[in-house]
Amino acid sequence: MTDPLRLGIAGLGTVGVGVVKIVQQKADLLAARSGRPVTISAVSARTKSKNRDVDISGYAWEDDPVALATRDDVDVFVELVGGDEGPAKDATEAAIAAGKDVVTANKAMLAHHGQALASAAEAAGRVIRFEAAVAGGIPVIKALTEGLAGNEISRVMGVMNGTCNYILTRMQSAGLSYDEVFEEANQLGYLEADPNLDVGGIDAGHKLALLSSIAFGTEVDFDGVALEGIGQVTIEDINQAAELGFRIKLLGVARMTGRGLEQRMTPCLVPENSPLGQLEGGTNMVVLDGDAVGQIVLRGAGAGEGPTASAVMADVLDIA
Ligand code: HSE
Repeated sequence: MTDPLRLGIAGLGTVGVGVVKIVQQKADLLAARSGRPVTISAVSARTKSKNRDVDISGYAWEDDPVALATRDDVDVFVELVGGDEGPAKDATEAAIAAGKDVVTANKAMLAHHGQALASAAEAAGRVIRFEAAVAGGIPVIKALTEGLAGNEISRVMGVMNGTCNYILTRMQSAGLSYDEVFEEANQLGYLEADPNLDVGGIDAGHKLALLSSIAFGTEVDFDGVALEGIGQVTIEDINQAAELGFRIKLLGVARMTGRGLEQRMTPCLVPENSPLGQLEGGTNMVVLDGDAVGQIVLRGAGAGEGPTASAVMADVLDIA
């Protein structure tokens, strides 16, 4: 019997619980696909006693994610804590130093520290994988690194923040103001703890910076993303755009130009009958242009328990 791949999961929010469910409910499938069992040794979160809709009593508990990341019975540290500094980064660095592979959904940490973390992992002979950090369930990192590996990519473009797309499409369909829909999104729990990460375009900018680095083989350059959020978009703007046959989207575009890499995450007009123009609600879409393949359009859930856990497990199975 092949040794199991043993996970240590830090963060038991929506995504962490989704990962635990897949490991528990699909054990046979995961073992068959990867050739070895995938198990969970230990978990960590802010509160132990919370009701989580999964049974975690069979796993060791660690209060400190750094202690979790360095346990002898953990092969892969799964970082689902979030935040660009603090426990997520400390534990990721500790995991790499302790010889663990890392799977993370943390776009903010990678956008700011991805280069240093990737170098540390490479020097240690380990990997840091982050499919779940960009566009949730859409396997866009794998599309670029595997499916489109024989292409030169000329442009990466897309809608990468579901909350902004929800706000913009809801304003249009219901004729509501930005403030009214912002409050609605807040009530529905769509907004990040710091809403400016969503509506300021920062979250989407993090994702674009990660995608650019993969697509163009460059260093992650979040500071190089020209950012503008959706806070200035009015219902009048949306209605005027509609009269001309356009929709307003928070659109990320990255392309290699004669002057180097250009990255923008800004509200843009897109034709209403294009795939991007027809993207409704919290869905994400990424459009990739390759020299051999032409254009590829990937569409799917950019957030949520199942979709994001699906992306985490893809990385776990690759490591397995
Ligand atoms: N706040 C993000 C979004 C969550 O709305 O897309 C997924 O990264």
